[in-house]
Amino acid sequence: MCGIVGYIGNKPVKQILIDGLRELEYRGYDSAGIAVLQNHQFSLFKAVGKLVNLEEKAKNFETTGFSVGIGHTRWATHGKPTELNAHPHLGSNSYVVHNGIIENYQELKNMLVLEGVKFLSQTDTEVIVHLFEYQLKSASTPFEAFRQTLEKLEGAYAILLVNAAANDTIFFAKHGSPMILGRNHEGETLFGSSDAALIGKCHEVIYLEDGHYGYATAQTVAMYDEKNRLVDLHFVPLSENKLSAQKEGYRFFMEKEIYEQSRVLADTLMGRLRDESIYFEELDSALFVGINEIKLCACGTSYHAAMVASYLLERHSKIRVSLEIASEFRYREPFLTQDTLFVVISQSGETADTLESLKMAKKAGLKTLVICNVDNSSMVRLSDASILTRAGIEKGVASTKAFATQVCVLWMLTLYLAGERKTLETTEIKRQIQLLRTLPAMVTVDEALHEQLRRLSKRYLHGHGFFFIGRDVFFPLALEGALKLKEISYLHAEGYPSGEMKHGPIALADPGLYTIALLPQHKLYDKTKSNVEELSARDSTICSISPLDFDKSDDHIRTQKSEDYMLEFFEMMVVLQLFSMEIAVRLGNDVDMPRNLAKSVTVE
Ligand code: AGP
Repeated sequence: MCGIVGYIGNKPVKQILIDGLRELEYRGYDSAGIAVLQNHQFSLFKAVGKLVNLEEKAKNFETTGFSVGIGHTRWATHGKPTELNAHPHLGSNSYVVHNGIIENYQELKNMLVLEGVKFLSQTDTEVIVHLFEYQLKSASTPFEAFRQTLEKLEGAYAILLVNAAANDTIFFAKHGSPMILGRNHEGETLFGSSDAALIGKCHEVIYLEDGHYGYATAQTVAMYDEKNRLVDLHFVPLSENKLSAQKEGYRFFMEKEIYEQSRVLADTLMGRLRDESIYFEELDSALFVGINEIKLCACGTSYHAAMVASYLLERHSKIRVSLEIASEFRYREPFLTQDTLFVVISQSGETADTLESLKMAKKAGLKTLVICNVDNSSMVRLSDASILTRAGIEKGVASTKAFATQVCVLWMLTLYLAGERKTLETTEIKRQIQLLRTLPAMVTVDEALHEQLRRLSKRYLHGHGFFFIGRDVFFPLALEGALKLKEISYLHAEGYPSGEMKHGPIALADPGLYTIALLPQHKLYDKTKSNVEELSARDSTICSISPLDFDKSDDHIRTQKSEDYMLEFFEMMVVLQLFSMEIAVRLGNDVDMPRNLAKSVTVE
């Protein structure tokens, strides 16, 4: 999730921009930049890494008097984190910063290249500024050129653009990614991708809505809607609490990250789904040449994502898969062959056990692939290839959106391989791609369901333990649900294959033993149902989660009917995330920073 700031006013603009970007650091980034326009002259500074690097580059730059400026912190999605790929991106006399993904950037880029435009970066963003200058050749004004540019963009964007001819103006647009416009009593106008960047600098703001675009100058703000109608400017007071601003109104980062899974999954999917195939710009099919087995290696939640992938890859890509818990793999003297692709999954890209396992595999001569959320992390730098999950920074220690995007990427990888290996009919690949397109809707939190889980959570505070049970991919989901609960409520929970309960664990069944049963309609429903009935007959307290009514449980969470078990998977994932969070809230625990845990376990 990138950070955007903008400023119009008479103060020294460099520090205002950098201070604003610093307030957005919590969103995560791997490069940053600012562009300042004063007296029709531009100054541009960009740096890879943290803001201190940018400050170093701009240390001898200062302004006095009126200027406009834009700034950006970039979380790499298209193109590696390099200075060239850092924003602002420049045309001949315009600069742009952008948050989101331009879906049709390739076709626009192809058209502009044919018009003789030279691109410097690998990003989708650069298309915006060149398209603007292309339109400027025929448009009556820079603002008309900006409007025509927006008409051609598809995808999600929050944009700030400045042009030397419009010396006192910032052009802005919002569609799918957040953008906030603020003002203060000193006549200054500011922009931010989160109000955290505006707190203390503005006393009132406008939270732009999708389709809103316009321009701001020292004297005025003009904003239009998607039908090009002038919009009344309704400013609202800005809260003073930075931390609450970073949580964007949610109680916890974990809650915010559960709610943003819909938008985040849209980013994960963006540019990767074709009608009948999957496209990873990061992958070269040569990586899979000579590969007869995939070994998936990870820790914790990432291991659960790996486990889901093991079912999908063997089922659809017809390739042998083995699973490794990294901390075990490191010391068991594994037998490795070079026809095995070693795939590590890690949100942080820094987990010590997983990183060391990756090094072992490389030392043994295996080809390696990392599924990771942090570009430029140790694992990304070390592996032969990487696929970014694009979840944005995950601040909650208990992983949620990272898990969702990992499973999404692994499902896409399954279909990519099924296409390469011709193990699925094109019609089936096409069908599953259509399912993937519905994921953002599937994980959108239903407020009524959240309220039901909040109320229900009070009944599950004092048992002697939890079993989360499921079959097939719902077994790793059960493991993940149990881990979420353990992590933040400190209550004991186990994930179990529901078919295993009768091989011992059912001895624990009594009213104080809570069973959370995952009963998907489209995957082994009857088998799982009979397992749950065995527990119910022994008076275990059962909460069933299913799109089908189930009368043998004490509580029932009814999920929506959908056409495939993988859609049921994602919806039940959200239920388990919220259920654990609401129990932890009732117990008064620190949801975002649970005791004894760290976000990234970089030590053994
Ligand atoms: C998950 O909620 C935990 N925070 C933890 O299990 C985590 O998944 C594990 O430490 C692996 O981290 P990674 O994905 O960054 O490698």
